[in-house]
Amino acid sequence: MPNIAFVNGRWSAISAAKVSVEDRGFQFGDGIYELIRTYGGRVFHIQEHLSRLQASAKEIEIVLPYTAAQLEKIILLGCRKSGYADTKVYIQVTRGAAPRLHSYPKKVKPTVVMTFREFEPLSMKLREQGVAVLTTPDIRWARCNVKSLNLLPNVMAREQALRSGAFEAIFIRDGKVTEGAGSNLFAVLGKKIVTPPAGPFILSGITREVVLQIGKENGLEMIERDLKLSQLYSADELFLTGTTVEVLPVVQLDGRPIGAGRPGEKTAFLYRAFQEQIASM
Ligand code: PDD
Repeated sequence: MPNIAFVNGRWSAISAAKVSVEDRGFQFGDGIYELIRTYGGRVFHIQEHLSRLQASAKEIEIVLPYTAAQLEKIILLGCRKSGYADTKVYIQVTRGAAPRLHSYPKKVKPTVVMTFREFEPLSMKLREQGVAVLTTPDIRWARCNVKSLNLLPNVMAREQALRSGAFEAIFIRDGKVTEGAGSNLFAVLGKKIVTPPAGPFILSGITREVVLQIGKENGLEMIERDLKLSQLYSADELFLTGTTVEVLPVVQLDGRPIGAGRPGEKTAFLYRAFQEQIASM
């Protein structure tokens, strides 16, 4: 049973898993989520992902029905049951099912869903070539630090990017970069490697945090500060970070080449260092 789901304690094939039509995740997008992956059976930074899930839940006043230790057990069990070496685990928690009223229902039990699928890595060709990205206005709310199920702006931006032949959309708010539709962005500006600061306008990725740490440990000048769109066009290198992309070079922005139009050295160095950390996990 490789592609499996966990719904409030019940295991099944994903195709057989069900939640109520009255679930507030379906009705309002009233919930939060995490994506976690495994490498050769080992879960990547599980504690950090579970802490972020707890933080998102707290921000929207959902009381998680499981402790972090219980969630970890379920995740490990699901990974074992599904049997993949590299598993993609989505955890989705909604406020629960109740007749449709905007206000929080009084006695509602949160819905906890997890799905386990094989993680399909990006092709080496894509990594070697680098990707194109497209900027788009950041029309999202001002609490992007919450990993909310409300992803409509992200979904529409990604679709717009794909239709223009780009791999990812990069959100711009007030002339400044925030992040990608499903990733964080770094810019290499001379010796400095800059990424927008954590706060209400980005989801501070676990991969982002790991890459900041790895860079600092290797003596690189990693800086969290605002990045203007104009700085991106003249950057020496750009790269994306995220659970699905790891560290991915960007070679084109809005149709203009970045740096030499090829993946850069600092990006390659950080990708290798990231892979070394995984190998030693
Ligand atoms: N999303 N920013 C946004 C808006 C994201 O959706 C994600 C990840 C990230 C990177 O976070 P992390 O390094 O923890 O994966 C940043 C996942 C991949 C998703 O929605 O499927």
